[in-house]
Amino acid sequence: MAQTWTKTDWRNKPRIQMPEYTDAAALAAAEAQLSKYPPLVFAGETRTLKSQLAAVSRGEGFLLQGGDCAESFNDFSADGIRDTFKVMLQMAMVLTYGAKVPVVKIGRMAGQFAKPRSAPTETKDGVELPSYRGDIINELDFTSEARIPDPAKMLQAYTQAAATLNLLRAFSKGGYADVHQVHAWTLGFTKGEQAAEYREMANRIQDSLDFMASAGMTPEKNAELASVDFYTSHEALLLEYEEALTRIDSTSGKWLAGSGHMVWIGDRTRQPDGAHVEFCKGVMNPIGLKCGPTMTTGHLKSLMSTLNPENEAGRLTLIARFGAGSVGEHLPRLIKAVEEEGAKVVWTCDPMHGNTIKSSSGYKTRPFDSVLREVQEFFAVHKAEGTVPGGVHFEMTGADVTECTGGVRAVTDEDLSDRYHTACDPRLNASQSLELAFLVAEQLSDRAEARRAAM
Ligand code: PEP
Ligand code: CO
Repeated sequence: MAQTWTKTDWRNKPRIQMPEYTDAAALAAAEAQLSKYPPLVFAGETRTLKSQLAAVSRGEGFLLQGGDCAESFNDFSADGIRDTFKVMLQMAMVLTYGAKVPVVKIGRMAGQFAKPRSAPTETKDGVELPSYRGDIINELDFTSEARIPDPAKMLQAYTQAAATLNLLRAFSKGGYADVHQVHAWTLGFTKGEQAAEYREMANRIQDSLDFMASAGMTPEKNAELASVDFYTSHEALLLEYEEALTRIDSTSGKWLAGSGHMVWIGDRTRQPDGAHVEFCKGVMNPIGLKCGPTMTTGHLKSLMSTLNPENEAGRLTLIARFGAGSVGEHLPRLIKAVEEEGAKVVWTCDPMHGNTIKSSSGYKTRPFDSVLREVQEFFAVHKAEGTVPGGVHFEMTGADVTECTGGVRAVTDEDLSDRYHTACDPRLNASQSLELAFLVAEQLSDRAEARRAAM
């Protein structure tokens, strides 16, 4: 099947959540331009990621995926990238410490621009306009001009993604992510309880490093301590953009989505015979599949066989997002479907998208407690089923925003207006992200115990 697939096949399938571009010539010009640009990632990297995810599926690793709900052209800055990268490193360190296994780090970065929306239009003060669909498509301003989809925005998105990835690669390999910097990663504004907890852990890591160095295991001889693998991911929603960056890998002859290391299919666009599944089935990258409450076991089985016909470990990550209080109702039946098929998957938990509420102050928010509760329910169900809770997927930022309520430095409903910057869904701030990492690490130390007992 993979041999006859081509990157344009999705065009013959029903598509939803994609813009209707009105200027066909401008669209063709943008696609032609994008097709000439180099891919952002190399096939070999996606193969390495796949093998790391295969280890995650067996419980020999843990996946941390995080970043903005929607990247923004306006908020694009080196500091923003650095801060999110830094918080993810801190979280990964905390999780590694708890899980006693390597943590695979994937940013929702360098391509996370297109957004599915619950309604095609938005009405304010009696004026109805097309919805905002992410900076790669149209603009957030509430004017009819701003909401017209503009294909040239794909080129700006590509440029921003390339610059973001360039900086991430520099940080990952250029010394910044050296584990010996574990103290230096403490963010200026991380005060209070978990900062102390983090420093304590950093001290213990430092002790181990000192011990290793005195035993001759110096950073020069252990390159893996001096750099990290950091991958990028986004929802493969805007298929014109994806298609234009899809290329044949000369080593394997397979198709590679060159827009990012991993791409996922959203909960709204996972119709088994729809355009998004058609596109994703043919590319060699690791694929994510969002599983919300309406995912039937029949659809899941059919999607697993379409997206991963050879049952390759690391190919498919199922991203459960049911909402706190609903995990027990949905996750066991989907786990059963996976087990019945003998399918090799990574199970990860997105505790964000099922927990969005409107605050009393009118902002779209997510209570920290619901986010945590969904993660705890996810771990509890896997424990009961004897399956592997493989990772977590967060909407988060290194910036000190006030978008989600709660956490030890409690953000209240009234605080939301202070620094509410997201163009789309509310994100955990740096402090909430780190706090959550410590709480997930507690769940993971159970998993580590169980692994040790089984050895
Ligand atoms: C998202 O991850 O930003 C998103 C839209 O998620 P979902 O498809 O799960 O609703
Ligand atoms: Co979102």
